[in-house]
Amino acid sequence: MSKGRLISFEGLDGAGKTTQMQLLEQWLAARDIPYIRTREPGGTPLGVEIRHLLLNRPDLAITPLAEAFLFQADRAQHFAHIVIPALEAGKLVITDRCIDASIAYQGHARGVGIELVARLSVIATQGYIPNLTILLDLDPALVHARTDTANDASGLREQQTRFDAEEEQFHQRVREAFLVLARIHPQRIKVLDASLPPELLHEQIIALVEPLLEAM
Ligand code: TYD
Repeated sequence: MSKGRLISFEGLDGAGKTTQMQLLEQWLAARDIPYIRTREPGGTPLGVEIRHLLLNRPDLAITPLAEAFLFQADRAQHFAHIVIPALEAGKLVITDRCIDASIAYQGHARGVGIELVARLSVIATQGYIPNLTILLDLDPALVHARTDTANDASGLREQQTRFDAEEEQFHQRVREAFLVLARIHPQRIKVLDASLPPELLHEQIIALVEPLLEAM
């Protein structure tokens, strides 16, 4: 096992990942704890190109299997160039999404197959997996209400993606898969109720992150 630590954030779009990652960054910065923040897809220059293809090109009619491979290509590059070197150098890495997103979205919701996508993910990460995965769980019906309001209010979020355009049933399947993964990996994946006030959620996240840092 490497000396560093890898923390991933997962959840449906609009569950509050961005806010919680920012609060965690502020908490780390206030304590002078160095970290790297990154994301999938889009954590490398190649990944930025792949992200655009995956999220903002509905005209390409990407098949579920092609989509699954594109996310893995992004991940292979991300782990090889960013995540693995950082972990091997003993650093803390915080990533906005990782392997569980592929298993939930492509493996289950798109129907490519959970086991196949799990295998592809481990190949892409060269066997590295997050030490801690924070799953911000929320009912998709609430997620959509929140995303719409946030988008209207800030105008900051990138344009509506191919995934945002999916039916609520698709997001229900994603949520189901995340919860199944959390039951299979209870030590690694921690489920938090994303409908809680952000400050309370932040405290719960710190309670999970702190022990991990002490062991570094
Ligand atoms: P993300 O950057 O988290 O977007 P948002 O800020 O809109 O939540 O992820 C982009 C989308 O890509 C999101 O809808 C989830 C999806 N995704 C997959 O389907 N599979 C994957 O392996 C990853 C990493 C993301």
